[in-house]
Amino acid sequence: MNNSLLTSSAHDREFAFTTKDFEQVRQMIYEHAGISLNPSKQDMVYSRLARRLRATGINNFKSYLALLESNDEAEWQAFVNALTTNLTSFFREPHHFPLLAEHVLKQKGKHPISLWCSASSTGEEPYSMAMTVVDAFGSFTPPVTIVATDLDTNVLAKAEAGVYPLERVEKLSGDLVKRFFLRGAGAQSGFVRVRPELRAMITFRQVNLLSDDWHIRGPLDAIFCRNVMIYFDKATQLKILEKFAPLLQPDGLLFAGHSESFHNAGHVFSLRGKTVYELAKSKAHAPHRAPK
Ligand SMILES: C[S@@+](CC[C@H](N)C(=O)[O-])C[C@H]1O[C@@H](n2cnc3c(N)ncnc32)[C@H](O)[C@@H]1O
Repeated sequence: MNNSLLTSSAHDREFAFTTKDFEQVRQMIYEHAGISLNPSKQDMVYSRLARRLRATGINNFKSYLALLESNDEAEWQAFVNALTTNLTSFFREPHHFPLLAEHVLKQKGKHPISLWCSASSTGEEPYSMAMTVVDAFGSFTPPVTIVATDLDTNVLAKAEAGVYPLERVEKLSGDLVKRFFLRGAGAQSGFVRVRPELRAMITFRQVNLLSDDWHIRGPLDAIFCRNVMIYFDKATQLKILEKFAPLLQPDGLLFAGHSESFHNAGHVFSLRGKTVYELAKSKAHAPHRAPK
């Protein structure tokens, strides 16, 4: 192996991880999940996948990658889970939530309101959406359903459980925590659980944004797709945006992450406010097409 290709920490590694192995991982995760791993991420990828080698008892990357190539389904999911980045928090990018409240109230009485959180991670985002609509309607049973999806099955399981360490809610107001969370006692002390009424508003399931068929039923009033498009290249982003558009109501909204901008998709979405998009005029007036 060419030593010039090794980073300083590479010499201390438990398993040899060549640039060729890294390139193969990059290709596999790009094809499966659309995630474009930056070439600078070799060390990060090594440490995340080294855990999979230890867990499977495989002692080299060549054999581990061969296992994936043999289409071992369970290991494929573990591989994907290991490579996703799941950073999130309650009411992250808070300026979106008053806009969501205003938007759902505008739809009141017109039709059942339907929201999709398309990269929900451990659940803080869809639960923040649920708290927002409960407050907007002044009811724990608002006429709103939320579908929350992610590719990573580990984070989906955490989201479904709705149990969080207290630190995750410490930046929220005491009043909000009191109204929407139950404090754990005994073995659960140090944890909070979201109220069952919030949990009941949300359906969690696995969706790979790269796949052809999402099985998401429109029309939707809003799609949250925040801080996931940054992992995709522009061509993948565009493909996803073109599939979002026919799922939305004519006045539906798309919420994006703080560093995501979709200038290249002007034919489907126009910027309406800070990282909030609406359908481009031509799409908004087109009759709603049933999603696949
Ligand atoms: C950084 S988190 C963002 C979470 C949340 N939306 C937020 O803004 O706080 C990105 C999430 O996107 C998910 N993800 C990555 N690739 C995906 C794909 N192809 N389809 C669906 N979800 C994906 C990851 O599993 C991860 O949970």
